[in-house]
Amino acid sequence: MILNASGCLDALTAPETARQLDAFVTKTVTPLPRGGNPPVRIAETDVGMLNSIGLANPGREIFVKETLPRLLDIGVPIWVSVGGFSATDYAEMCGAVDGCDGVAAVELNLSCPNVDEAPESAAEIVAACRAASTLPLYAKLSPASWDIAEVARAVEAAGADGLSLVNTLRGLKLDADLRPVLGTVTGGLSGPALKPVALAAVYACSRASALPIVGMGGVQTGRDALELVAVGATAVAIGTVLFSDPYAPGRIRDELAAELAALGLSSVDQASGIAHDRALPARKHLDLGSRV
Ligand SMILES: Cc1cc2nc3c(=O)[nH]c(=O)nc-3n(C[C@H](O)[C@H](O)[C@H](O)COP(=O)(O)O)c2cc1C
Repeated sequence: MILNASGCLDALTAPETARQLDAFVTKTVTPLPRGGNPPVRIAETDVGMLNSIGLANPGREIFVKETLPRLLDIGVPIWVSVGGFSATDYAEMCGAVDGCDGVAAVELNLSCPNVDEAPESAAEIVAACRAASTLPLYAKLSPASWDIAEVARAVEAAGADGLSLVNTLRGLKLDADLRPVLGTVTGGLSGPALKPVALAAVYACSRASALPIVGMGGVQTGRDALELVAVGATAVAIGTVLFSDPYAPGRIRDELAAELAALGLSSVDQASGIAHDRALPARKHLDLGSRV
């Protein structure tokens, strides 16, 4: 199953790209409209992209009345990404989309500004949303948590149905005159640099929790998607690559099939979690004798 990463595809301007996906994930919607951050909001780096969009969105009312019906017309299942500044904000958003036909799931963007990402706070948000929604709830976690596996366990216990891993990491780019490029100075780093971080997060969370996992972070090829499946992802989302390749979903799907065949695997299921079986047992003690 291939999805887009939230905020990385405007399905209304690129419906053909959206139709290549198994589900379309919206940009994060908050109860009130948000204009977003001052420019510059996007910067390329050697290893990925920085963004400081600042959750620009039309707010709940316009989203539900105007945007959502147009998205549903595209004909792919819709996952609504919701955000806010308190558990009440998240629950309000969940309640607003709960009765909407065609919404297949809700992704809780737990990496919003001012949202405390401690396990207890993440669990409190998930519990509030669980009470407000009958839809499957995917908790999207930040790779910056000190122990992402503990957050995964906490949101599972609070009623999440799945995990989305991972959101961006904070980064900064300077221009030739050593001035920060982004209007907000720092922003979220996505793209290739995030892949090893995403692999580690999915690996850790799939050991800690039984929830299905949408893996994302730096996926550009079928091999990248396969690696996320190998560490435990049950679905893969693609983000930054969509800015340069609108055909990425179909291409990555084809490449994934070729990668599986090359490894003698007959289905994605056969690759699922395979890296866990192949991991070498961790060495219990430092072998000081081998130090040079
Ligand atoms: C321009 C841009 C906007 C984003 N907006 C959102 C957002 O609204 N909500 C969210 O949960 N993640 C957002 N993200 C993070 C992505 O969904 C994804 O977690 C991250 O980019 C890692 O995937 P990638 O390396 O394939 O891009 C955004 C990323 C980018 C690059």
